[in-house]
Amino acid sequence: MLVPKTQEEIELLRLNNDLVSRTLAEMAKIIQPGITTKKLDRVAEEFIRDNGAEPGFLGYGGYPATLCTSVNDEVVHGIPSTYELRDGDIVSVDCGTYLHGYYGDSAYTFTVGEVSPEVQRLLKVTKESLYKGVEVAIEGLRIGDIGYAIQSHAEAHGYSVVRELVGHGLGRDMHERPEVPNYGNRGRGPKLVSGLVICIEPMINLGKKHVYQEDDGWTIRTLDGKPSAHFELAVAVEKGKADVLSTFRYIEEVLQNKN
Ligand code: MF3
Ligand code: CO
Repeated sequence: MLVPKTQEEIELLRLNNDLVSRTLAEMAKIIQPGITTKKLDRVAEEFIRDNGAEPGFLGYGGYPATLCTSVNDEVVHGIPSTYELRDGDIVSVDCGTYLHGYYGDSAYTFTVGEVSPEVQRLLKVTKESLYKGVEVAIEGLRIGDIGYAIQSHAEAHGYSVVRELVGHGLGRDMHERPEVPNYGNRGRGPKLVSGLVICIEPMINLGKKHVYQEDDGWTIRTLDGKPSAHFELAVAVEKGKADVLSTFRYIEEVLQNKN
């Protein structure tokens, strides 16, 4: 049995996830060839603190930064560094906050300069897969319905779903029950109840599904070296339609004005 949040808790989670969404929009403004992932990290940390919150990832399980910045074949948990983003790269920026005793957690994969149509399509389909998952995050369905929706959309386009990393419940802890795999079978797994808050975060590979962890103890990469995309939203399960607590609206407004 999964524990739903009260409406008060959902509002605190909304506050956190809205701040994460606005922080990611700040990243959208400055991502361009030549900027280092460390610079992104510093700007994000400052923005979060200026808004009265703390970075949610910094120190979490010993993680050393505010953001995870995962470039190209890096799937997730890339550590910000002196690497300068290059024309044609993609970078998943995953961000967390901690405010009023609750966490925020969302991610968006950005393009840097001109990205090949093949990779742009991977990003589009990964984001669509996330929305397919959100559509079925409704009372009465099950965790397996979310995984099924994501997996079938991604695989229909010839992509593969990472198995080792999954979405999760979100609340007073960043990783709560249940696990939310991006693959699965319809009608299987724990039942979704109204008020349950989960992060849905497909990690979709252009090539094969296999990944490995680097010697830094964090960075996850594709085994075949092909690119991987990652998008994450926090949602509260409700009857008929999920209450989406984070948003890509701020990011996409910035990107529209950029191009
Ligand atoms: N968004 C990531 C996740 O849910 C959190 C990064 S883990 C951290 O898996 F340790 F870096 F914080
Ligand atoms: Co997450």
